[in-house]
Amino acid sequence: MEKEKYDFSGALKGFAEHYEDGNSPVWDIGRPKQPFIEIANQVVEPILDAGCGTGDTSIFFASRGLKVIGIDFVENAILRAKSKVKGHNLPVEFLVKDAVTLDEWDIKFNTVIDSGLLHAIYDREKYSNGLKHILNSAGRLYVFYFKDDPSSPGGGISDNELKGIFADGWKIESIKSVSEDNDEWKMNFAVILRKS
Ligand SMILES: C[S@@+](CC[C@H](N)C(=O)[O-])C[C@H]1O[C@@H](n2cnc3c(N)ncnc32)[C@H](O)[C@@H]1O
Repeated sequence: MEKEKYDFSGALKGFAEHYEDGNSPVWDIGRPKQPFIEIANQVVEPILDAGCGTGDTSIFFASRGLKVIGIDFVENAILRAKSKVKGHNLPVEFLVKDAVTLDEWDIKFNTVIDSGLLHAIYDREKYSNGLKHILNSAGRLYVFYFKDDPSSPGGGISDNELKGIFADGWKIESIKSVSEDNDEWKMNFAVILRKS
């Protein structure tokens, strides 16, 4: 059956509304999502937290002494993230940046954290090409995303679609079904290796 087409072209405006003054996005739970806590010991710096929101996952890794850059295309999200670390002297930097432009960046990383971004990306091919560009060989992408389910906004991402997005230059090491903290959404957690 043809999947419902979800229109992410207005993504920036839609996400920005979630971060307007007084709004608290439903995903903003004050700490990383559980799968990222579980893999914390495996993560190698420098880390990119793509679509970092208000920065809790970035701050979690930076508090463990790891160098992190968090990016989000919503300025208000980045302002909130910056205010959380002000005066704490952590190895973390927050930037307003569209994750679909990573192919234009010169910085290299050993880890990319994607906590809830991939399923919302309007151009997944350009995003994965950008990831390929900024991730060092043998680096890993850890991605937490809506699985292929009728309850998922946009229909989520099937295993086959994931394999299509991360085909050449990647090895999908694992895809695991995980429950989200509020149990409302059906989520997957994948570990994807950047091959040489
Ligand atoms: C579901 S939220 C997750 C936020 C955070 N990672 C977390 O786990 O709480 C997705 C985030 O990705 C950001 N985002 C969506 N598309 C983006 C893009 N193309 N470039 C950068 N950030 C983007 C949104 O602004 C939002 O903050």
